[in-house]
Amino acid sequence: MLAMTNKFKVLGLIAASVAATVLVTSCKDKRSTGWEYAPNMYRHIAYDPDQKNNNFADGKTAQVPPKGTIPVGFTRFNYPNTRGGYDSASVTATSPLPTTKKSFEEGKVLYEHFCSPCHGMTGQGDGLVVAHGYPAPPSYSKGQSSRGGAMKDLTDGKIYHTITYGVNAMGSYASQLSPVERWKVVAYVHHLQTL
Ligand code: HEC
Repeated sequence: MLAMTNKFKVLGLIAASVAATVLVTSCKDKRSTGWEYAPNMYRHIAYDPDQKNNNFADGKTAQVPPKGTIPVGFTRFNYPNTRGGYDSASVTATSPLPTTKKSFEEGKVLYEHFCSPCHGMTGQGDGLVVAHGYPAPPSYSKGQSSRGGAMKDLTDGKIYHTITYGVNAMGSYASQLSPVERWKVVAYVHHLQTL
């Protein structure tokens, strides 16, 4: 019996304190957000990107990067997406990568993922999507480039330019492959040119 009374006492106490808490918190200013945990998470001194900023002439925090800015890890490829750019890349753009077995193997994997659906596993222009009706690219070893010359003679610069910008039915791979990855693929395409 004694234990029972104690239990009710405890329950009563809990109920009373919950009620007291509700009363105390509800009496507070209605516009208050209550207590903040780690307030400097909400009120940091750094500017938010979409915040007004008088330090800049246009009053915005998010500034457009200066012209010519390139992402970290990327290198500049100063050849425009034009026939002239393709031709000058052919003469002056050469792979900065040493040919190692490791980079060749990585180029193979990248090629098989990104290029083989159209160009085929051995570069003959007989990939899976071609089998379903997509326009066939010319074979790397036996075909002719639509921009003149044999595919087997395509240079470092021409292949890199094509991966970067695409050509006709082939899209650009600049957003999928970093410059280093592109050069690895170029090395693998050179291998396919000999098949
Ligand atoms: C969606 C299909 C498709 C994919 C994927 C594709 N290509 Fe192509 N590629 C083509 C077609 C089609 C052509 C022929 C375009 C033309 O000359 O009209 C072509 C042409 C080329 C050429 C010849 C360019 C020239 O100067 O004549 C090269 C080199 C090439 N591709 C490399 C690649 C590489 C490397 C990849 C992977 C990163 C790739 N392609 C992915 C469809 C594709």
